[in-house]
Amino acid sequence: MDVSWQHTSSLNAAERLDVLNLINRTETVLGREALDETRRRTVVHGWRGEHWLLREGPELVQYALVQGQSHATLEMCGGGFDETLLTLVLEMHEVVDWWTRDSDGSLDNVVRTLQLLRINLPVPQIPVPEGATMRTFTPGIDEVAWLAQNNAAFADHPEQGAWLLDDLEARIHEPWFDPSGFLLLEIKGQIAASCWTKVHELHPDRFGEIYVISVNPTYQGHGLGRVMLSQGLASLRSRGVHRAVLFVDADNVSAQALYRSFGFTLEREDQLLRFSKD
Ligand SMILES: CC(C)(COP(=O)(O)OP(=O)(O)OC[C@H]1O[C@@H](n2cnc3c(N)ncnc32)[C@H](O)[C@@H]1OP(=O)(O)O)[C@@H](O)C(=O)NCCC(=O)NCCS
Repeated sequence: MDVSWQHTSSLNAAERLDVLNLINRTETVLGREALDETRRRTVVHGWRGEHWLLREGPELVQYALVQGQSHATLEMCGGGFDETLLTLVLEMHEVVDWWTRDSDGSLDNVVRTLQLLRINLPVPQIPVPEGATMRTFTPGIDEVAWLAQNNAAFADHPEQGAWLLDDLEARIHEPWFDPSGFLLLEIKGQIAASCWTKVHELHPDRFGEIYVISVNPTYQGHGLGRVMLSQGLASLRSRGVHRAVLFVDADNVSAQALYRSFGFTLEREDQLLRFSKD
């Protein structure tokens, strides 16, 4: 039977349905997300991209999404690796960064390690310090100020340090968005820190996520990270969640120390592998 990878910049309705079915089937087997949230949204919303499809006869057996031009990033549904696809993609891009999920740590060319940490709830709560006010995000009002605070905190981060208004608004319009779990800490009328939480409502084992957490660089190292994390976890618990997760880079020293001190433990490790034409 003919088995070959083909790519398209735009999935037609039938292809999109095939890909969504494949993602759902893979998620059921793995018991976790089959594709990173941002890439999944590209499929769900039918956005243009470099979509690669592997068919066995009429059946779609694998899918991958490539983003970027000369320096591209690739993730295959399920988070595996495919030598044939790599060769094809390297014909179109100088450098390919390939996300592998559930890595066992034995791979070469690793340029980034992302960890999924988990914790059982509740955890002890840390009160909001005097002189600071905790409130929730108000859509239509807080976007610009939150982007400024969060981008400043993540200035050195490859993905989270350059969010635009569009990136934020797209998420605000997602069905899971719940402003009651998006906490802002104000000091002297300015956002000093924030913690955006998310409840995975449709997961069979409903759980929470610390989706984005950051402290304005001016205020870092003064205990606000601790406050925001404990308040974010309390907000998740108040919505009936017993377990929370978060993603963190293995080399993010301050965040790792903060999470480990709360009792977060490692659930899995994903690795970004780099390949170039020569
Ligand atoms: C990670 C972050 C939220 C921590 O906030 P913070 O207000 O600086 O942290 P706190 O002052 O509350 O410190 C809490 C704990 O974090 C750890 N920590 C904080 N800064 C640290 C540093 N520079 N080096 C090592 N550990 C550090 C310590 O364990 C500290 O506890 P301790 O003071 O009892 O030793 C903040 O540094 C930040 O916004 N970083 C950029 C964005 C980011 O990486 N977010 C997390 C992504 S997963």
